[in-house]
Amino acid sequence: MKYEILPSFLAADLGHLADDLLRAEASGADAIHLDIMDPHFVPNMSFGPSIVDFCRKVAPSFYRNVHLMMSRPDLYIEKFFKAGAQTIQVHIEADCDLHVELKRIREAGAKAGLVLNPETPVEKVLPYLSEADEVLVMTVHPGYGGQKFIDSCLPKVSEIRRCCPELDIMIDGGGNDETIPLAAKSGANQFVAGSYLFAKEDMKAAVDELRNLISAAVSAS
Ligand code: DX5
Ligand code: ZN
Repeated sequence: MKYEILPSFLAADLGHLADDLLRAEASGADAIHLDIMDPHFVPNMSFGPSIVDFCRKVAPSFYRNVHLMMSRPDLYIEKFFKAGAQTIQVHIEADCDLHVELKRIREAGAKAGLVLNPETPVEKVLPYLSEADEVLVMTVHPGYGGQKFIDSCLPKVSEIRRCCPELDIMIDGGGNDETIPLAAKSGANQFVAGSYLFAKEDMKAAVDELRNLISAAVSAS
């Protein structure tokens, strides 16, 4: 199983976006995680397809993982794909037909991810698992970076791992050197970390340390 670390671009310094993106790429992280928000789905707004395009221009080889926190992702999938999204994640709580949208993402040529919020029971995703390339279990309520990790989301990770030994399972929200090993133990293999990683002067050392902690957690479990 491949273990991946994804810095969330939401935590980058707006005055130094290109530098921060290149810093994240040079850290050895596996992909940049782009948090796209509409104010209907979450109580906040972030950025749109132009930032995905910016990432493609500044760091073309750095994989772009795009998390759509939107009520109507169906209206934007094409735009994000054209802007350079390589994985597109849609929420199970969105107002659209997910069978159709997961298929649409895959047919466009991207990987399809399915996301569930902390209060959403795991049963809701089970009918879609064969249509998704990955499942993202939110470990905070979406909308803001820098929130506290919600431990009670981890049993959902274990349950999805039990039914899908090969599936990519991601956690997002409150990821750091204490919570990411817990998520790895529960069966996650992709880890978003925003405020934790961008606050580090030496992001490469922090990514290396996370990889060591993940290996230790997995081999102990
Ligand atoms: C929350 C976003 C997360 C968030 C992660 O709405 O989906 O990706 O930016 O940030 P940290 O790691 O700071 O919790
Ligand atoms: Zn996210």
